[in-house]
Amino acid sequence: MEIKKVGVVGCGLMGSGIAQVSAQHGYETTVVEVNQDLLDRGLGRIEKFLSDGVKRGKVKEEEKAQALKRIRGSIRFEDLSGADIVIEAVVEDLDIKKKVFRSLSETCREDAVLASNTSSLCVTEMMTAVLRPERFVGIHFFNPVPLMRLVEVVRTVKTDRSVYSAALKFTESIGKVSLKAHDSTGFIVNRLLVPYLLDAIRAFHEGVGSIEDIDRGMKMGCGHPMGPFTLLDFVGIDTTYFIANIMFEDFRETRFAPPPLMKRMVLAGFHGRKSGNGFYDYSKERPVANDRILKGGVS
Ligand code: CAA
Repeated sequence: MEIKKVGVVGCGLMGSGIAQVSAQHGYETTVVEVNQDLLDRGLGRIEKFLSDGVKRGKVKEEEKAQALKRIRGSIRFEDLSGADIVIEAVVEDLDIKKKVFRSLSETCREDAVLASNTSSLCVTEMMTAVLRPERFVGIHFFNPVPLMRLVEVVRTVKTDRSVYSAALKFTESIGKVSLKAHDSTGFIVNRLLVPYLLDAIRAFHEGVGSIEDIDRGMKMGCGHPMGPFTLLDFVGIDTTYFIANIMFEDFRETRFAPPPLMKRMVLAGFHGRKSGNGFYDYSKERPVANDRILKGGVS
């Protein structure tokens, strides 16, 4: 099967990134949101990212114009009926995702591939909501989608081989490097990344080192682009907490258990960059370690 038209459900951080790369790689792309305000914000994010790319000399003005022309924003699910593949990127809530897939299954063409961008929920469980489970896969993108080359392409025990191949071919055609993964919670990357991030919090809590030194250690000692606390703030402490809880529930292993400090930060609204504070305080010109976080919790 050949994929020509792409649909994306959700135009948040991930959905807008997916729609952007899809359009940049020549696909007619329809992106659907629940209301006009969220849709406008998502489309604005795409415009801004492409304009930034032009300023940096990474994107040609013509490429930007062509990409924007290929994206159609909509608040109607029915506008996805012509898509060959639809990638869902709505909130990480299993019930909401199942509802989305139930509707997609009824709205989309019978031979359309349905995919979820979930990072931590059970792909097989989402699959149970659709009429044609053999046409269901996971395609997990990384944040920021236009800059991160990797995707994890996930199959369930029911995924048809030709559908899986089509999904792999599609992700490669949009410039991504694909990993093949089975439907195991967290797939490959989060399976390793989440315990590492949680361990960084535990190390800080035990007084092994400061936030800046732990970050510096992993950047300079291991060549990571961001230290664990910068990355936690970037991904979202609430998001990582949510993923960790799902993994802990599934595996029942303490390495996936979110540390108490993390829970308190989430409750206190210290969610990372998006909330203006997390392990760092973003209210100053440059982020500085958040002095309200003590080893025993949020002061
Ligand atoms: N358009 C095109 N190119 C752009 C761009 C834009 N709008 N903005 C930046 N770029 C380019 C830059 O020009 C630069 O290119 P070169 O390397 O060729 O010079 C490159 O992108 C990097 O940009 P910056 O120099 O501005 O920023 P940076 O070097 O700090 O890199 C980063 C930013 C790519 C985010 C990097 O810090 C990084 O890789 N961080 C780790 C991110 C990460 O781990 N993400 C995964 C999170 S986990 C996840 O997503 C899974 C989950 O389920 C939770």
